[in-house]
Parts: sequence; C-alpha cells; structure tokens
Amino acid sequence: MRAAFVSKYGGPEVLEIRDAPIPAPRQNEVLVRVRAIGLNFADVVGRFGVYPGTPKPPFILGLEFSGDVVAVGSEVKTLKGRERVMGCSRLGSHAEYVTVNENLATALPASMTYEEGASFLVTYLSAYHGIVRLANIRKGEKLLVHAAAGGVGTATVQLAKHLGAEIFATAGTDEKVTLVKQHGAHYVINYRTTDFASEVRRLSNGHGVDVVMDSVGGETFRKSWKLLAQMGRYILFGISAVTGKGALNPMRVAATYSLMKPIFPPSLLGANKGIFGFNLGTLSSKESYFKEAVRDLLKLYDAGSLKPFIGKVFPFDQIVEAHRVLQTRQSVGKVVVVVGD
Ligand SMILES: NC(=O)c1ccc[n+]([C@@H]2O[C@H](COP(=O)([O-])OP(=O)(O)OC[C@H]3O[C@@H](n4cnc5c(N)ncnc54)[C@H](OP(=O)(O)O)[C@@H]3O)[C@@H](O)[C@H]2O)c1
Repeated sequence: MRAAFVSKYGGPEVLEIRDAPIPAPRQNEVLVRVRAIGLNFADVVGRFGVYPGTPKPPFILGLEFSGDVVAVGSEVKTLKGRERVMGCSRLGSHAEYVTVNENLATALPASMTYEEGASFLVTYLSAYHGIVRLANIRKGEKLLVHAAAGGVGTATVQLAKHLGAEIFATAGTDEKVTLVKQHGAHYVINYRTTDFASEVRRLSNGHGVDVVMDSVGGETFRKSWKLLAQMGRYILFGISAVTGKGALNPMRVAATYSLMKPIFPPSLLGANKGIFGFNLGTLSSKESYFKEAVRDLLKLYDAGSLKPFIGKVFPFDQIVEAHRVLQTRQSVGKVVVVVGD
C-alpha cells in the first residue's frame, strides 16, 4: 500500500509517500481500506514531534479517516466486514489501509459521504465534549468560540446554534468572518483588525461571556479569561499559537506559555469561574461515553442540524499541500484528502 510517512520531524515537506506492507488486524481490530482522510491540527503538531506520545520517525501519521472494512480480527463482534465506517486511529491513517480497534470505528449513515465521515468525529466530539459535557451550556448563554472558521470551530458554532446559545466568534480574515456568520454565529470578529476583547465586552453590554472554547492559547487565552463572566466555564483544548508558518520555534513556544500565567486556585472562589482542559486522544478509554455522544450527534446529523463543513479536498498525492494549507491558516472548515478514485 501507499502511505505518507513522517521522514523526520518538521514542516509539511517532511511527509513522504512510500510503499509499506498492508497491516494485519489483531484479534479485536478491523482492517479498513481508507477512502478519505480528515486532517486535524493534531496531525500538524504530531508532524513536528511535539504531540504527546509521538513516536520517532519514520512513522505513518494520521488520526481520522473513513473507508470500507475489508477484514476483521477473530474476536471482533460489532462489525462483519464490508461496512462503510468512519474512525479515529492513534496514528497510521495517512495511508491506503489502516487497522483500528473495533470500538474506534463507527458505521457511516447511508446518507453520509466518505468525505463527511472523515470530517465528523473529531470536530463534533470536541464541540460536544466542550460545550455539552464540560460547560453544560444553557439556552441563551453567551459562548465565545475562537478559530471559529476551522474544522472544530464550524462544528462548535453549528452545535451551539442548535442548543440556543448566543454565539460570539473570532476568525482571522473577512472571508472567514462571513463564513462563520453563515454557520449561525451572532457576532463574528476579525481579530486581526479589531480587538476582540473590547468588541465582545461592548456587544455583551459589559457582561462578557459564560463559556469560552479556546484552542489557540497565548494572548487569546489571556484576554478571553478576563472576559469570562461569573459562573463562567473556560474550555482550553489546544494551543495552536505555538505554531507558525515554518518549523517550530522554541522562543515562540516559551512566549506563548508565558502569556498563560498559572491560575491561583483560591482566586477562582471569589471570581466564581473555572477552567477545564481536555484532549480526546487521552480520553479514548471512555468508550461508552463516546459511543453515546456519537449516537446523539448522528441524530442531529440525520435531522439536518449538523452538517460537516468541508473547505477543501485534495488527492492523496497532494497531501503535503493539504498539510501546508491547514498549518498556514489558509483553510476553512475541514481539510480532507481522498485516497483512490
Ligand atoms: N484537545 C482535543 O482533543 C482537540 C481535538 C480537536 C482539535 N483540537 C484543537 O483545536 C484546534 C483546531 O483544530 P482543527 O483541526 O479544527 O484546525 P482548524 O481550526 O481547522 O485550523 C486551525 C485554525 O486555527 C487558527 N489559528 C490560530 N492561531 C494559529 C496558529 N498559530 N497557527 C495555525 N492556526 C492558528 C486559524 O484560524 P484563524 O485564521 O481564524 O486564526 C486556523 O485556520 C487546534 O488547536 C487543535 O489542536 C483539540
């Protein structure tokens, strides 16, 4: 099979398409012929070698895919083979075939395309875990979503709209601002031309916001934490501010972290607010919780309340370019790479 290997840690150019043996499924695994790969920012961070648990090169990157089950291990109970599935893998899905534990593969609804399947799980599960499970957002509460034009961002805006939140959002270009409004956000701020913190304070008549979904960190964190109202819930689930256009710069990493000063727990009492962090990758043992969440999300997909937004589709041969577009903030929605015809 063909697979995209990380030949050494670094920028998109370190990805090399090479031949590799088709992996064999273990007892509780399925072998999937990959049809579409969903790119995630974690793939960018993993390529740089700074995602927790990233192996030494060479290795096959990739944590989200859709495709067809073509073989099952001897103890697999839920899949028989030949099903169309979407799934998450710790690594290995930047390839024509991938093996995953049967619990990490979910049957695709008949109406869902492979491209949508490769765009569904990470985006909507992040949105669900953040605003439903952790923040328990209520109808009418004010939510601030950063990087709102991206994969997780558009999913969060769609889910928050369904839940009746008042949505404040930020994005980095006027085109992205227009797009986020189309997805249902009430107020969208181009943070490059307008100070988002003073604008949110003005638009909310000084209230600030009840929930923040922050995957950027650094200066964005510093300003947004101050915007959090009493009884506010801050959800930190990424620190994309550490990356730039090219190689990872340790000075930039240090500067980003230093803007996120430690929070002194006793100060939270008087402020009546709190912070959660999450990483879906290290939560994979919560099988039944995620199965339930996916069931709820698929009902919303069937009802038309959620629709994965795919910004750009690349052929497998152009996977380097696909990575570059995601890393350099040129993407909107999900970036998908199709494998085969
Ligand atoms: N913890 C978890 O389990 C989990 C799961 C999924 C995703 N995430 C995190 O959520 C974030 C979004 O992931 P995604 O895959 O949906 O990506 P994405 O939002 O589609 O793309 C990244 C976007 O982030 C914004 N951004 C801000 N600072 C950036 C920087 N220094 N470099 C690059 N982009 C920057 C850009 O939007 P603007 O142009 O609008 O600034 C960019 O388009 C990432 O931080 C990712 O690590 C975490």
